[in-house]
Amino acid sequence: MKTINIAIDGPAGAGKSTIAKMVSAEMGYIYVDTGAMYRAVALYLTENNIPDEEAEKHVDEVEVSLKFVDGTQRVYLGDRDVSDLIRTPEISMAASRTSAIPAVRARLFDLQQKLARENNIIMDGRDIGTVVLPYADVKIFLTASAEERAKRRYKELSEKPDCPSYEEILKDIIQRDYNDMNRETAPLKQAEDAVLVDTTELTLEQSAARIAEIIKERV
Ligand code: DC
Repeated sequence: MKTINIAIDGPAGAGKSTIAKMVSAEMGYIYVDTGAMYRAVALYLTENNIPDEEAEKHVDEVEVSLKFVDGTQRVYLGDRDVSDLIRTPEISMAASRTSAIPAVRARLFDLQQKLARENNIIMDGRDIGTVVLPYADVKIFLTASAEERAKRRYKELSEKPDCPSYEEILKDIIQRDYNDMNRETAPLKQAEDAVLVDTTELTLEQSAARIAEIIKERV
């Protein structure tokens, strides 16, 4: 039976994962966060002191898998749940570099396509509509200004100890946007047939409602 595949791409911090989670819960689809897979590979390389130049030789030994517990994705390295360990600023920056390595992308690509063949999914990332699921039923490109994304991230982190400054967060976002958009393999870009949603002026609820509406119109 053909599964339904929804692709959501866009830059870091545009709200993809929060919104995709809300919409997938509403529609009963599985939400797949592909960024977590790149982060898990980056964590593996970091923990094993493997420099990016050597990553290709080690890519086959990295066992990334996803489990879905009550609809929530958990990411595993072997049998270790690393879902929380991958959320540090260091791993964010490392994942941005790791994801430029073609051998890493090839490995995760197979895993992502298999998930899409077997489940009704909303999958978010950078190259889902362009490379991983070119025949997705619906493609959305979700974005917001870099300043607005930094502001949201700052607000989210400001309660925590060692919160970086707004300026540091903005600088990181601009750097990651640059890396994601300018790498040679599968750079971040809007697919020709994707619907653009700019959330700079929208609340989370408004953004989720807009996306649910786009999906329902097409599926
Ligand atoms: O969405 P995120 O910030 O968790 O993603 C982590 C990194 O992985 C980010 O720098 C972009 C990269 N990535 C990618 O290249 N392709 C994807 N499909 C998803 C993420």
